[in-house]
Amino acid sequence: MSDDQDGQQPGQPPRRAIKSFVTRAGRMGTGQIKALAELGPKFVLPYKAEKLDLAATFGRTAPVVLEIGFGMGGATAEIAATLPDHDFIGCEVHEPGVGALLKLIDEKQLGNIRIVQHDAVEVLRDMVGEGVLAGVHIFFPDPWHKKRHNKRRLIQPAFVAQLVKHIAPGGYLHCATDWQPYAEQMLEVLSAEPALLNTAAAATGYADKPAYRPLTKFEARGLRLGHGVWDLVFRKR
Ligand SMILES: C[S@@+](CC[C@H](N)C(=O)[O-])C[C@H]1O[C@@H](n2cnc3c(N)ncnc32)[C@H](O)[C@@H]1O
Repeated sequence: MSDDQDGQQPGQPPRRAIKSFVTRAGRMGTGQIKALAELGPKFVLPYKAEKLDLAATFGRTAPVVLEIGFGMGGATAEIAATLPDHDFIGCEVHEPGVGALLKLIDEKQLGNIRIVQHDAVEVLRDMVGEGVLAGVHIFFPDPWHKKRHNKRRLIQPAFVAQLVKHIAPGGYLHCATDWQPYAEQMLEVLSAEPALLNTAAAATGYADKPAYRPLTKFEARGLRLGHGVWDLVFRKR
């Protein structure tokens, strides 16, 4: 599939929505396959165009954090273990990542994570009620380096406007990236969203890394390549 398929030609079918990911065929390890078969039914929620009953989903009432694009889920599992009084919904489209997080859920015996293997933009729109999220984590979203691919970046004004509707008043949005032009775009877009307030103390607008965020797999790769890291933490007014 070409990355540029979203260009519309006269007489062609309607333009597809621009996605923030391209589905990659990933090789599943045997542990991941086993985890999907055995733990999937309990921890993976099927995508449905129907609002989730969060209390019924987790069997309790607790602050719920949505993570978009958890990759292999290492940071997700670590945060969920650190914050047992919070519940986490992780969205990821890459199946081996779903298998990997299920393995970690089992190893760490975590009861506070559920996974939706689907486009987070649609999950948010169709499955998450308005004003219900205590927080949103978007760690190292695909940077889409090339100018002609920038339109695929998740952090864009329209998506952020949609996203904040689902955050509870006083809830937070935490983004991190190792790609400076994307960090600058994030800062510009989040600062321009009237419902959000930057929590950063520094004049740069970037936040100190909150203690709950461990090093992620993608971040470690960026650091090896000599990239910097920028965290942005905004609160909903
Ligand atoms: C660069 S990776 C970072 C993964 C992880 N957060 C980390 O720091 O290691 C971005 C991930 O976001 C996922 N992703 C991108 N757009 C998504 C979307 N709309 N819904 C769900 N997952 C998405 C991709 O499949 C990919 O695994």
